[in-house]
Amino acid sequence: MEILETVRWREGKVRILDQTLLPEREVYSDLETVEEIIQAIATLAVRGAPAIGVAGAYGVALAAAEIAARCEPGLPPEPADFAESLARRAELIAKARPTAVNLQWACDRVMKAVREAGAGVSSARVALTEADRILAEDLALSRRMASHGATLLPEKGRVVSHCNTGGLATGGGGTALSLVFEAVAQGKEIFVHVDETRPLLQGARLTAWELARAGIPYAVQCDGAAAWLMKTHRIDAVLVGADRIAANGDTANKIGTLHLALAAREYGVPFYVVAPSSSFDGSLASGDLIPIEERPEHEVLSWAGRSVTPAGARAWNPAFDVTPARLITAWVSEEGVERRT
Ligand code: MRU
Repeated sequence: MEILETVRWREGKVRILDQTLLPEREVYSDLETVEEIIQAIATLAVRGAPAIGVAGAYGVALAAAEIAARCEPGLPPEPADFAESLARRAELIAKARPTAVNLQWACDRVMKAVREAGAGVSSARVALTEADRILAEDLALSRRMASHGATLLPEKGRVVSHCNTGGLATGGGGTALSLVFEAVAQGKEIFVHVDETRPLLQGARLTAWELARAGIPYAVQCDGAAAWLMKTHRIDAVLVGADRIAANGDTANKIGTLHLALAAREYGVPFYVVAPSSSFDGSLASGDLIPIEERPEHEVLSWAGRSVTPAGARAWNPAFDVTPARLITAWVSEEGVERRT
């Protein structure tokens, strides 16, 4: 499995592969401030639940370094002031996108490490060490999800993918798409039907880019074609990721996932959610409580920078939906495959 360098710490900056420019251009940007991190997350230059978690963690490390650099030379910061200033910045980063729980989880985890170490001169190092750990764990979790989940795929078959759940959506390994990479590495023949994923085309732009690099056969389809695909072809699985999974298994993921799950149920296609434990939010009893991000209208009203609607048209642009647990065949995490009971 190719590991993509989606988010990395490089010489005091956070280097991201700018996903808004793919597939035309592969550009890495160095983010130097908390504001730039927030902007990159909000504009989806870095995106996908685990990837924004990693970016958020490095954002808090960057904030810690910024605060430490502002302290008077020779004078250590007051631990209480340091923790308070850092917590304020961490909260701003965590709020950059509301649905993926991974972002809040990662920021909280770095803050906890700093507090436990007694916030002070060494906090920037503590924060960076914790962020590095989150990235390393994310890479390891992708490998484990891939090996558990690949067993669900046949020797030769077809799957439907929604949004982008490959290396780009994580620290580099992937969630749902990593099952396909692993199955193919094991010698299985898998064809991927890629939902384009309106309005920002994560499927057409990003999943297709990853599959092409890996030499895996695929075809992109309009999101609205997926139900017809399941009616007219033998499809072995729908594979999706998750931005947040509530205690009862209800799963928030990219808008359009609920349609897929309903169609999969109608046509008897197994529907798998693949996500690391950092995407599980046991504090929410059900999916009704998951905050759903609403994004700007212009993302729906225009295409490739050109307006496609009459002047004055309005749009509704929820970025995610919630699939009820009863429509999900199984959840694949680093722990294994958990079937609906
Ligand atoms: O708006 P995005 O592109 O960040 O949405 C991403 C998704 O919905 C993914 O399917 C999800 O984060 C899980 S895959 C890692």
